[in-house]
Amino acid sequence: MEKQKIILDCDPGHDDAVAILLAAGSPQLDLLGITVIAGNQSLEKTVRNACRVVQWIGADVPVYAGCDRPMVRPQIIAKDIHGESGLDGPVFPPLAKSPEEEHAVPWLIRTLLESDGDITVVTTGPMTNLAMALRLQPKIADKIRRIVLMGGAYANGNVTPAAEFNIIADAEAAHVCFTAGRPVTMVGLDVTRKVLCTPEIVRRMAASGTCASRLFVDLMRHFCRTQKEVFGWPGGPLHDPVTIASLLDPALLTVRPMNVQIELRSTQSYGRTNCDYFGYLGLPATADVAIDIDVGRFWDIIEEGLRRYPSAG
Ligand code: BDR
Ligand code: CA
Repeated sequence: MEKQKIILDCDPGHDDAVAILLAAGSPQLDLLGITVIAGNQSLEKTVRNACRVVQWIGADVPVYAGCDRPMVRPQIIAKDIHGESGLDGPVFPPLAKSPEEEHAVPWLIRTLLESDGDITVVTTGPMTNLAMALRLQPKIADKIRRIVLMGGAYANGNVTPAAEFNIIADAEAAHVCFTAGRPVTMVGLDVTRKVLCTPEIVRRMAASGTCASRLFVDLMRHFCRTQKEVFGWPGGPLHDPVTIASLLDPALLTVRPMNVQIELRSTQSYGRTNCDYFGYLGLPATADVAIDIDVGRFWDIIEEGLRRYPSAG
């Protein structure tokens, strides 16, 4: 079986951390590198968190620090959900893993240019790194096999009524990526809100007893608590791993091709992903938008992913 080559661009973040666990441990995926962006916390913290997760699972994956702020708009972070460290909850051992010297953007450009056009770029944070790479070297667009992003919503946002965090955090960058002319799969809140990590799910994953499941449990205890405090929900929506799970099982998501445009000019609706669900505009579809998810299958994929790791001992 040929492995799918992927780059994971993320802002860990509790759900990003689970996406790393799933991607790094999968025999179906070749995780070429993790590029990191400021988002859930400052760049310094999200890079440290990516290194902490990679070290925890003993993965041999390079981590590249990327942009420390959005292209145009003022920076926002998600401290209320992810805590002061960006990954509150687990007690991590002293950090030995460090990021590579090279900045994420030139690394993305080099890696994509040298590729056979067979790399899927998965983004689970603000899309600044990929957008900057596309602006610096437009030739990489033809080399991207596909962009799979967690972000947006055709219904309700989670930062404003209109906008989801990863898009509103850098809507100009999202616009650059959505208009790059490559196949885009948008995994938005419409589906990720259906995979609520409840205390029952946490108990189920704990039973695996691996080093990855131990990290999952420590992460999710914090994540579920803050999601309950902030949004009043019985569990945390495990947004980001849906992207990786959809690569592992293409039948996981039901998608609908839609014309998607990022709102950049409005005050109230800045960062909204305007998805033409019913095709009113008569414009070509620009993205496959996820509209449903097989929730049971998703948790099976998470459990299989966690079980692949060695026992916590
Ligand atoms: C997205 O925002 C971040 O806080 C999460 O990590 C996820 O990528 C959900 O809106
Ligand atoms: Ca994220």
